[in-house]
Amino acid sequence: MTRFLDSDVMGDEELVERTLRPQLLREYIGQDKIKEQLKIFIEAAKLRDESLDHVLLFGPPGLGKTTMAFVIANELGVNLKQTSGPAIEKAGDLVAILNDLEPGDVLFIDEIHRMPMAVEEVLYSAMEDFYIDIMIGSGDSSRSVHLELPPFTLIGATTRAGMLSNPLRARFGITGHMEYYEVADLCDIVERTSAIFEMEITHEAAIELARRSRGTPRIANRLLKRVRDYAQIMGDGVIDELMTDKALTMLDVDSEGLDYVDQKILRTMIEMYQGGPVGLGTLSVNIAEERETVEDMYEPYLIQKGFIMRTRSGRVATPKAYEHLHYPFSQDNL
Ligand code: ADE
Repeated sequence: MTRFLDSDVMGDEELVERTLRPQLLREYIGQDKIKEQLKIFIEAAKLRDESLDHVLLFGPPGLGKTTMAFVIANELGVNLKQTSGPAIEKAGDLVAILNDLEPGDVLFIDEIHRMPMAVEEVLYSAMEDFYIDIMIGSGDSSRSVHLELPPFTLIGATTRAGMLSNPLRARFGITGHMEYYEVADLCDIVERTSAIFEMEITHEAAIELARRSRGTPRIANRLLKRVRDYAQIMGDGVIDELMTDKALTMLDVDSEGLDYVDQKILRTMIEMYQGGPVGLGTLSVNIAEERETVEDMYEPYLIQKGFIMRTRSGRVATPKAYEHLHYPFSQDNL
């Protein structure tokens, strides 16, 4: 029955993330706007003894959408059942999951934009009026069975605002756009993680790590582990600014926090396409990464930081990209 739920297939990173996961809104660092809204909507739902309206969380990977879903369930005092769009292959899979929900429960569907259409259609009535009509049998002996569901809260997470169909999007009452984290917030997260794992880290080192983590807690926590390894073997175990810089440089994380792939994207645009414009598909093939990975993970940060611009005819490297990678820039490049 729980075959479609991911909860018991837990990798190393997942385990670490779980240990670190804040339980309450007030423990959750950053994303102030979403937190402020959710605090009110959660309180109101609890006051009225109703299920919380469905929540859609947008944003690049690693910003804490799953963590936020767990926090919401915890604040509501209900169970969370977790699955993902690609894991629900058939309408029957979704029916099994929905049938298993207790009143008020949260169903978290990660990568909800990757759910098959036949599954999505089952979700419409479930979300709107808490029922599903399922066909049983086939041919002449098939009949429709009406199944009432307990009120529940669907939390959908997606990296792509544009990939969600309008009917699905319209059924979410609450929408939250997750933003890249400020350095100060990432620094708090790094210091929180260090405290939990009893690592010794200076404030300056935490800031440096935060500055070079692409605004992303998952990356900050992952790099922190590598920097700790480095400090333990190459130093006395204390994570200071110098150790952090050396370790991150060894890992090809540059002074702006761009990693190997980010740099490769910019170099390819500059060296092979004179800075662009170049289409995303062409670029992805050239750097041997999936188009989806480039679009969801790499491009949004490069755009936000002003290294890439999106134009009607393709992506263009900005003067800032040339300067950062020490290429000469002339107006002819624009
Ligand atoms: N660990 C990872 N992300 C976090 C966040 N946003 N708040 C607190 N701890 C975290």
